[in-house]
Amino acid sequence: MDLLADNSAGPVVLLTGGTGYVGGRLTPRLEQQTVKFRCLARSPEKMRSRVLPATEIVQGDVLDPASLDRALQGVHTAYYLVHLMSGSKDFEKEDRQAATNFAQAARNTGVRRIIYLGGLGDDNDPKLSPHLRSRHEVGKILRDSGVESIEFRASLVIGTGSLSFDLVKSLTDRLPVMLCPRWLTTPTQPIAVDDVLAYLLAAKDLPPGESRIFEIGSEDVTSYGDMIREYARQKGLRRWLISVPVLTPYLSSLWLALVTPASFEVGRHLIEGLKNPTVVRDRAALDVFPIRPMGIREAIRKALGEDQAVPNPS
Ligand SMILES: NC(=O)c1ccc[n+]([C@@H]2O[C@H](COP(=O)([O-])OP(=O)(O)OC[C@H]3O[C@@H](n4cnc5c(N)ncnc54)[C@H](OP(=O)(O)O)[C@@H]3O)[C@@H](O)[C@H]2O)c1
Repeated sequence: MDLLADNSAGPVVLLTGGTGYVGGRLTPRLEQQTVKFRCLARSPEKMRSRVLPATEIVQGDVLDPASLDRALQGVHTAYYLVHLMSGSKDFEKEDRQAATNFAQAARNTGVRRIIYLGGLGDDNDPKLSPHLRSRHEVGKILRDSGVESIEFRASLVIGTGSLSFDLVKSLTDRLPVMLCPRWLTTPTQPIAVDDVLAYLLAAKDLPPGESRIFEIGSEDVTSYGDMIREYARQKGLRRWLISVPVLTPYLSSLWLALVTPASFEVGRHLIEGLKNPTVVRDRAALDVFPIRPMGIREAIRKALGEDQAVPNPS
């Protein structure tokens, strides 16, 4: 059925980033809940095998405004789960442009709510990494559209397939001895993917209101070093972490590129952000939503369980 031509059966929920990690996990949950569900994808054929036959797929690109005007027709709630870090020479500029296009199209087509997942980090920190600064800028552009925007800010998302968690896994799996830069002690408050998905889904059903930012994280404040230790402990691996204060983010990313499957460019942007504390300072999400995120140990246990359930393609 062509839902673009038939908006009579109720409001449409649109998802961007459905071929990505978070969007891909959200898709089946939205399909269970939503009467009319539409995905915007740059490559519809990539998306087709991931959705139910009734799910509509619209070809589109957040850098192509005309495609957004088409995709957002009749949409009530739009999920913005896109970033342009891979394959872009200037991701800050492109993410700015993409968010501006999306915000304009959402306003023009009468979208009622945008739900966006960005990154934690202190806006007032002059040393905030370009990646985190850009994630916050995207949230602001969406809010400034005048369309009600719900922005979630998360640190690392724990789950198999999440790029930042896969970096932790690859390092720990491959290196018995790690020379560790100082950023491994930076405080962070990661969150299990199931909890992120619960927040993203619940945001769809909030009563109409003002645009909001919700900082979300597990109950534990930890560090990347302690995550590596906990992951190693659960896998029964003996690992030694030796502090090397002179390892710069640039050198760290060269080193990461050697030992992990993440692309050098994306890894570099993520690593630059690891020097910034990413902890929840505003706990409003716990008042507004009935969600109580699981602790880091349980989140890692679940991710390891997923690893065993999903056959490794390589
Ligand atoms: N994963 C984490 O640990 C984590 C943590 C905190 C926050 N977040 C946030 O969560 C959101 C989603 O992250 P993710 O990890 O799911 O990302 P991801 O796996 O890298 O997926 C990115 C998605 O963006 C799409 N995309 C890229 N360029 C596009 C364009 N020009 N037009 C349309 N779609 C485009 C990609 O589609 P193609 O298949 O066409 O490339 C893909 O579906 C981001 O805002 C990220 O900052 C993630």
